[in-house]
Amino acid sequence: MVSDREIENAVAVLRAGGLVAFPTETVYGLGADASNPEAVRKIFAVKGRPHDHPLIVHVADAVQLANWARDIPPQAGKLARKFWPGPLTLILRRAPKVSDLVTGGQDTVALRVPSHPVAQALLRAFGGGIAAPSANRFGRVSATTADHVRREFGATVDCVLDGGAADVGIESTIVDLSGAQPALLRPGWITARQLQDVLDMPLAAPGAESPRAPGTLAKHYAPQTPLLMMEADLLLELAASLTRQGERVAVLARCAHQPLLPGLVWMMAPTEAKGYAHDLYANLRQLDEAGCGTILVEAPPPDAAWLAITDRLTRAVAGSAAPEAT
Ligand code: TXA
Ligand code: MG
Repeated sequence: MVSDREIENAVAVLRAGGLVAFPTETVYGLGADASNPEAVRKIFAVKGRPHDHPLIVHVADAVQLANWARDIPPQAGKLARKFWPGPLTLILRRAPKVSDLVTGGQDTVALRVPSHPVAQALLRAFGGGIAAPSANRFGRVSATTADHVRREFGATVDCVLDGGAADVGIESTIVDLSGAQPALLRPGWITARQLQDVLDMPLAAPGAESPRAPGTLAKHYAPQTPLLMMEADLLLELAASLTRQGERVAVLARCAHQPLLPGLVWMMAPTEAKGYAHDLYANLRQLDEAGCGTILVEAPPPDAAWLAITDRLTRAVAGSAAPEAT
């Protein structure tokens, strides 16, 4: 785990305008002092991320919301009490002092209180807000271990805190509370149903008046190897036909049984959603490095518990068809 000394060093890096990669319970973040525009600018440069993609500001507790947001509606308090610290991001109207670099020039700001003990220790020692996107190059698979982060960025990140494998494994649920009705902008481990139960009102789908969440692009979370998602029977047929043509094929299976085929790299994913999400990005990275022409993913079941996983895989399929996310 991470020592007090490492936290002190990371705080010094943040105060000096540097970048610190740190674990959260969802995925690793690439953090900078949210109130230092020069530092925030580095995040975009290192990630290769367009400037109109706003960042989440991470804070130690809900009390700090007032430093970053204004006109905070009562629903924010309800959700914060139930789900913070945890894998939920709230979109609120921004306080005037929040940099345009953080918000992508929008009138809103994304805020999250992560629960990972290392993220908490860092935020408490730092005292301010840490702007952090997922610690991956733009459009690529998010990082769920410190090793993924180092491989992604090498020495360009000043400090990487190693808090072990991220527990949830996929990015936070994002709820917009800046409009007339709460809207779900990105599905995550906390489901729409859980949110509605706490809010006691239905969640809207993102509408024309919702703030843009450009990071939820159709093409995202993509390995470099072309990725296809399909039901088990079709997957087995395609794997057989591609390997017959001499292609190496990687499979991320859920229920399907491994056939004996030459050139097949078979990975059995956990069969329940929690384990599947926890391993998802590490599995995709491993299959991406297996030297195969195609990755075939067995489609998840249609249940609500798998919705966020299906969302990420669908974007990965779209993104893997193009060399860079646009
Ligand atoms: O779990 C997570 O949320 C991780 C960890 C590190 O906290 N962070 C993360 O950040 O996934 P990123 O930058 O990869 O995704 C943040 C998403 C993007 O889709 C971005 O467009 C959206 O949040 N977003 C940020 N600020 C926004 C705003 N003001 N309005 C609408 N969407 C916003
Ligand atoms: Mg991301």
